[in-house]
This record gives sequence, C-alpha cells and structure tokens, in this order.
Amino acid sequence: MGKWDVLRGYRENQEESVSEEKKGLPQPALETVRGEGQEISLPTDFEELLVERDMLEILKDRHSIRRYGEAPLTLKELSFLLWYTQGTKKVVGRTKKAAFKTVPSAGARHPLECYVAVQRVEGLTPGLYHYRSLSHQLELIYESENLRERVTKAAYDQEYVGTAPVIFIWTAVPRRTYWRYPDQAEKYVLLDAGHVCENLYLICSAIGCGTCGVGYYRQEESDRLVGVDGQEELTVYMAPVGKKTEAAEA
Ligand SMILES: Cc1cc2nc3c(=O)[nH]c(=O)nc-3n(C[C@H](O)[C@H](O)[C@H](O)COP(=O)(O)O)c2cc1C
Repeated sequence: MGKWDVLRGYRENQEESVSEEKKGLPQPALETVRGEGQEISLPTDFEELLVERDMLEILKDRHSIRRYGEAPLTLKELSFLLWYTQGTKKVVGRTKKAAFKTVPSAGARHPLECYVAVQRVEGLTPGLYHYRSLSHQLELIYESENLRERVTKAAYDQEYVGTAPVIFIWTAVPRRTYWRYPDQAEKYVLLDAGHVCENLYLICSAIGCGTCGVGYYRQEESDRLVGVDGQEELTVYMAPVGKKTEAAEA
C-alpha cells in the first residue's frame, strides 16, 4: 500500500473494485444493537435549552474547550447533543434501507456508532452507554464509577479528557461504507467522523457546553472501554463534553 493511499481513495494502477452492493450481497445492518442492558428513552423537548441560536455567532465562537464545570449535564442536554450530532430524521427504502440523520454521510451509509462514557448526568447511573440513533434511545452497556481513569488512559493520558461529565466515543463499522465503496471506505469513514464531531462542537455552543475533538487515543484501550472487537467495529474519535465556565474560557 502506498503512502497516502487512504487519502486518495484508490490504488494506483489498479482497477476499481466491484462493490458488495453490485454483487448483490446483503447490506450490513443500519446500526449496532448491543442489547446488553436496559434501554432508556431520551427526552426531545429542547426549546428551553437554547442559549445561542445564531449559527454565524456559533461558528465564529467555535473553539476547543478543555476545562469543564463540575456541574452535571441534564439528561435533556445529553439527549439534545446526541440528537443534533447524529439523530435519525428518517429511514427510507424497503430492501436497501438508508437512514438520513442530522449529520451527512457518504452514500448515507452512516458507519459511525456513538458511545457515551457518563460520569455526571442527572438521571443516569455513571457508566458506558450506546446511542441507538434509530430510536433515539440509550442502551446501558455497563455501570461504572471508575471511568475517569480508564478514559484518561485511553486518551493517551490527556488528563482533561477524564474530567468531563460525558465523553463521546465514536466507533466505526467500516463494512457499512465498504459495502458500497470498497476502494474509498477508509477515507469516507474518517470524513464522516469529522462531520460528526463538528456537529458536536457547534451544537455544544447552542446550550452553553464545550468540547474538544480527540484523535490521539490508545486504540486497544479505547476499544476495550467500549467493548468492541477492534476489527468489525473500532474507535475512530472521541470528544469530552462539559458545561462552559469562565475558567473554561481560559
Ligand atoms: C482530528 C482532530 C484531532 C484532534 N486531537 C486532539 C487531541 O488528541 N487532543 C487535544 O487536546 N486536541 C485535539 N484536537 C483539537 C485541536 O488541537 C484544535 O482543534 C486546534 O488546536 C485548533 O484549536 P480550536 O479548535 O480551538 O480552533 C484535535 C482536533 C482534530 C480536528
């Protein structure tokens, strides 16, 4: 494999691959179902949460925030962040299904799953949850009072990551994209991840929260933390989230 092949999305002097879709092979499932614990429906009446509605202001003020207030997030705030980052607006198609979400995705393949390491969210037991975007629910993967240490270690000891009330951890199921785009899958998955995190940056500002994209993490630690195999599903990005404080602006 040549240097930058992932960025080019094709292999020099190589014919385009025939996709699994064109071969008539079955489409991978639209989302991961972990089904290990209880499902929690998330509230969707967001009106009262907004502190900033002007998109131009939000874009101008966007910056990475690495200090978070002690205050917990409410369940409604977490629900808002999940919905506007990756919420499902509609699902189309009878045999070949596609989801349309608040975030774009190459070919509407949506290879990204979202996990949240919850440390301080009102109404949620601390632990690791998986976002079920199709039904706007959280499923509990496991309870844990000791996520701080594990999250920090997974983030290559970047201490501030473990101090956040909630840490978003995105995994990819590359096969969803590969099914249609065998030669471009890696590139598209990573481009999709950029969109997801930018959504989070912007939507955090709308409700007085702050975040920071984290691409520097230990692969195996993070995959273990969210309980994925690192092959069919693997971590691609993280983002701690907390309330903005004056100190956070420093
Ligand atoms: C793909 C990507 C990976 C990043 N990884 C980290 C990281 O591991 N740790 C960190 O503190 N910041 C990380 N950042 C945040 C950048 O350092 C930050 O965006 C940059 O310094 C510009 O600052 P601004 O976001 O405030 O404009 C990352 C940003 C991106 C887009």
